[in-house]
Amino acid sequence: MSEVVFPQGFLWGTATSAHQVEGHNTNNDWWAWEQAGRVKTPSGAACDQYHRFRDDFDLAKSLHHNAHRFSIEWSRIELREGEFDPQAIAHYRDVLAALRERGLEPVVTLHHYTNPIWLADQGGWTNPKVVDYFTRFVHHVVEELGSQVRIWLTINEPLVYMWMHYLDGTGPPGAHDLGQAMQALEHLVRAHVAAYHEIHRVATQHGWPAQVTIAMHAQPFTPCRWWHPVDQFIARVSTRVYNHQFLEAVMDGRLRLPGRPPVRLPDAHDTLDIIGMNFYGRVFMRFVPTSGGWPGIRCSTRHHREVTERNFLEWDVHPPTLLTVLRWAKPYGKPILITENGICTTDDRQRERFILRHLAVVGQALQEGLPVMGYLYWSLLDNFEWADGYGPRFGLIEVDYATQARRVRDSATRYAEICRTNRLVCEDV
Ligand code: FCB
Repeated sequence: MSEVVFPQGFLWGTATSAHQVEGHNTNNDWWAWEQAGRVKTPSGAACDQYHRFRDDFDLAKSLHHNAHRFSIEWSRIELREGEFDPQAIAHYRDVLAALRERGLEPVVTLHHYTNPIWLADQGGWTNPKVVDYFTRFVHHVVEELGSQVRIWLTINEPLVYMWMHYLDGTGPPGAHDLGQAMQALEHLVRAHVAAYHEIHRVATQHGWPAQVTIAMHAQPFTPCRWWHPVDQFIARVSTRVYNHQFLEAVMDGRLRLPGRPPVRLPDAHDTLDIIGMNFYGRVFMRFVPTSGGWPGIRCSTRHHREVTERNFLEWDVHPPTLLTVLRWAKPYGKPILITENGICTTDDRQRERFILRHLAVVGQALQEGLPVMGYLYWSLLDNFEWADGYGPRFGLIEVDYATQARRVRDSATRYAEICRTNRLVCEDV
């Protein structure tokens, strides 16, 4: 038996995003994509959290959480280009007040995959103007709400955003175009940097504290066939490009994208106050010479001997790898926040084990001196999982989508005990 005692003030809670829980986000590009029949089930009313947030935060409080991550929906705030809706701002002011009243530290994401329709119509993230548009939106939000927010996440998973929307095509605009993908990625980096400076500028003017980060999708790529030199090579390069080059861009001001000349971004130096990491598992890479110009593809976890556990979507579950990715943050000497970690499963005991095993690894990281400051489980509730619709169940709390009834799962109760005591006692996890 071992015990982990977490540092005082450790942030415990969950993460969500607007489009996945609020319901009826009709003014964004995902909604349009869903209406065009491009997903398994459209998001519709989702968890109706736009109206039920107080009840949901009561549940989070009763589960001894002290933090909550959510996102502010750009398409609700800026209805048309340059036209801001004071009612939407008032809504998020109520959301922040409700969190504060319950002792939940808000962790606020400013971009979580969705874009206002007016922006999508102008080419979305491939349009260089997006950097100024995003900065203007961020300015407005921080002016209006910044007195209540200490931790800001500018962009959720820039690499997944780029991949899903411009390469893999499972999200709007559904592109499969390396040139567009690299353009979007460069704009995501530039938008983060501009937003970082804008948040600090406004916060400093008002004397508000602010810490700014992104939610990086920390994703180790592993060779599908460990003995195959080309699989090894593409796994190594993918890990570098996907994880380290983004960190280098926003910390060292050097942007190196495949197939493009390196760009120096002088104002990008040291633009993360915290390293925010989302972690789910490993991805396996296999060299397939005929795959349409791509040097390699992901291979299914189902046939892989190294994979001993999978989630409902067949993603790899491998807690020890969390330590590998947390170590990536070490050279930067910044606090680390686990901004997402979670599992979709029909077996709630698997969820409980998942949480315990990952927290045991967080304990190892702390022992190594890695400054982990919090853990946000994905997600508080079952919710809309993008192209996969409502099948995957990630929630600590079960949602009956027909009635919107909530039911607290046993894993939530176990996690609550850890949050309450700030301690993990591992018997045999
Ligand atoms: C992450 C996304 C989040 C959710 C989880 C399961 O990559 O940030 O919106 O879909 O995966």
